[in-house]
Amino acid sequence: MRSLISVLDLNREDVLNLYQLFLDFKRGRREKLDGSVMLLFLESSTRTRLSFEKACRQLGLETYYAGKGETSIDKGETLLDTFRTLKYLGFDAVVFRIPFVLFPYQEYIREGIVLVNAGDGTHQHPTQGLVDLFTAMEVFGSLEGVKVLFVGDILHSRVFRSTAPLFRMMGAQIGICGPATLLPYDPSSLGVSMVFHQVEEGLRWADLVEYLRLQKERFKENYISSERSYFAQFGMTKERYEGFKGYVMHPGPVNLYVDMDPEVVYGERSLVAEQVRNGVFVRMAVMYYLMKDG
Ligand code: CP
Repeated sequence: MRSLISVLDLNREDVLNLYQLFLDFKRGRREKLDGSVMLLFLESSTRTRLSFEKACRQLGLETYYAGKGETSIDKGETLLDTFRTLKYLGFDAVVFRIPFVLFPYQEYIREGIVLVNAGDGTHQHPTQGLVDLFTAMEVFGSLEGVKVLFVGDILHSRVFRSTAPLFRMMGAQIGICGPATLLPYDPSSLGVSMVFHQVEEGLRWADLVEYLRLQKERFKENYISSERSYFAQFGMTKERYEGFKGYVMHPGPVNLYVDMDPEVVYGERSLVAEQVRNGVFVRMAVMYYLMKDG
């Protein structure tokens, strides 16, 4: 495997290999690679961009960065031609975040430069999926039969489309909950076994809940009446957290008092900080896995 665009291209062996590498790097394994990596982020990011940058540097890779408005994409150059240009400039890999869906992507990965998807529109965010999976595996050990509930804007969530298939691959059951306007049209095609319209019901069912941010940058219409009413109806309030016996996750960034109460984000059964911490080691594992054979 030389590129990572979608978790659907990973098999169980890839995921278990990546998990072992993640654990090794977290325990202090050191590796050095030669090469240079372009971080092309056409959408904003804190966690993903900086954890990739740190991961690459810890592996001895040179990093370069270009953000929105800093490339000739603004002058009409296509993304494919941009990847080719980066290859001719001598880059070995491009980590990219883009506001649109890269699909189909076979033409891109044939270019012979390592491509790593750091989030493309509503499609995929594979390294976030691995962060969420590995964080849960550290806590639960086996995920066989573990009930995982996703709450929020499932419809626009690239995190859901990345994290849920990985949890399913490891034997977890998937439930979803959110406003009817923000649920997918055909949940069973996404491997969802339970759909909840009342968050209390979902929380009674779940062992682990992952809240997902309202992707307002992708809304074209009013999917919710107000953030205040959304929080009251679906949010992880202190009261809901106290009544819930499982663990809480959020890929970040958290919108406080929309998705979660701030006391929950840093609560004892919250894995949010660990997800951020694990981001560097997951991305070291991914970059090493993709680039180790030159
Ligand atoms: N989870 C995530 O992708 O966060 P950033 O947008 O800060 O990278």
